[in-house]
Amino acid sequence: TYKPKTTIVIFGATGDLAKRKLFPSIYRLFKKGKISEDFAVVGVARRPLTNEEFRSNVINSVSEVDQNCENIEGFSSHFYYHPFDVTNTASYQELNQLLGTLDDTYHTEGNRIFYLAMAPEFFGTIAEHLKEEGLTKTNGYSRLVIEKPFGHNHPSAQQLNDQIRHAFKEDQIYRIDHYLGKEMVQNIEVIRFANAIFEPLWNNRYISNIQITSSEVLGVEDRGGYYEKSGAIRDMVQNHMLQMVSLLAMEPPIKLTTEEIRSEKIKVLRALRPVDENNIDEYFVRGQYGPGTVNDVNVNGYREENNVDPNSITETYVAGKLMIDNFRWAGVPFYIRTGKKMAAKSTKIVVQFKDIPMNLYYKKGVNEPVQNPNLLVIHIQPEEGITLHLNVKKSGQETQPVQLDFSNDLIDGINTPEAYEKLIYDCIRGDATNFTHWDEVSLSWSFVDPISSVWESRITTDFPNYPAGSMGPKAADDLLAKNGDHWWPLS
Ligand code: BG6
Repeated sequence: TYKPKTTIVIFGATGDLAKRKLFPSIYRLFKKGKISEDFAVVGVARRPLTNEEFRSNVINSVSEVDQNCENIEGFSSHFYYHPFDVTNTASYQELNQLLGTLDDTYHTEGNRIFYLAMAPEFFGTIAEHLKEEGLTKTNGYSRLVIEKPFGHNHPSAQQLNDQIRHAFKEDQIYRIDHYLGKEMVQNIEVIRFANAIFEPLWNNRYISNIQITSSEVLGVEDRGGYYEKSGAIRDMVQNHMLQMVSLLAMEPPIKLTTEEIRSEKIKVLRALRPVDENNIDEYFVRGQYGPGTVNDVNVNGYREENNVDPNSITETYVAGKLMIDNFRWAGVPFYIRTGKKMAAKSTKIVVQFKDIPMNLYYKKGVNEPVQNPNLLVIHIQPEEGITLHLNVKKSGQETQPVQLDFSNDLIDGINTPEAYEKLIYDCIRGDATNFTHWDEVSLSWSFVDPISSVWESRITTDFPNYPAGSMGPKAADDLLAKNGDHWWPLS
């Protein structure tokens, strides 16, 4: 089997993402034999650490998530630490020397991945220095992996993109949206394009609406400073939610290549009906959690969290109705909702099919139909699977709704790979399909910017408007009720 050889340089190697996701994911690739012995990882960050200290951090972080880790010492011996100042050219030159040595030691053939897992204000500077100091000039490939947030709005994203494009071509840039690494998000395409029973129905003739929920139980934790400037629309809608919408709505690509898939997703984003100050109330609802109870524990409201303004108008919840103005989707609302401190941690997609033309089945003696609409539910997390809601007559009983279930967990019996594990592997192999192209980022910001600017300019609101531990503000129910729809329960 093909075993890629590479050096991965992680900027922000002492940070949370490296510790929680990146080290364990690289370890799992190693354990599964997906990367060869010919790899090295260089951790880069400000604080001074020795290689030994860094390696023991790596071992700790891997053992926290992986109970029976074999050959962890051998694994960690591939890790090196390089203390670094992002604005100092000498730091880059020293790093370049180290990379040259590691190329020789580990036969990595000059392949380099630069992974920016740190404060976004340095993304542009680092990319430019990497080029200027010659780190990207190697015999192998050099790729840039860049974490979110990719800008704060369209102008800042554009500026960041211009900066990194000085140093890297579009096909060398891997913009992370970790939702694209999730098993069931990747499954959306398979469900749609590998099943004759779905694709013919996947349009405005047979689908009534599509609902995407991504709810979280956690609040902003220690990220109040970042979140105050971001809010749910930038934190979740601009990226993860719009990515799921694109995958659900895109035309079948002519081939499963990066270019073809991206170009279909981009067309969806171009067809989104713009929302602005004139129509925003028809399409979007915002919320902020107040005090409440989560799992029987009383918790603070958002305004009482650390590093949050006591009069904050930052939204911790967004619900929206998106219209995709093209032939396939004209008239079909895509409802999205996402929020912090809600009743459950759950990401689910519900595809509601239209009612049949005429109803033949009624409850005995009552003038009430027995069947429900057909639903296709895609469970993204924490459960992974699909459920199809049908109406069936059980033996000896009346016609009634039943559910056909497929669960990934039950089939496998093992954990599905972490999103990051898959994305890192894709990047090593040079497959950018599950990363976002600049055009997607750009169109997503163009959609979101007018919404955030209206919200920022309209100071007076009824915040907080949902208690922690609930499913969000009532206005989000009204949003659907206006169309005669309702949110389907998550369980
Ligand atoms: C991140 C957001 O992109 O996604 C976080 O910045 C959010 O605020 C997280 O908690 C949700 O990811 P997941 O995988 O837990 O659904």
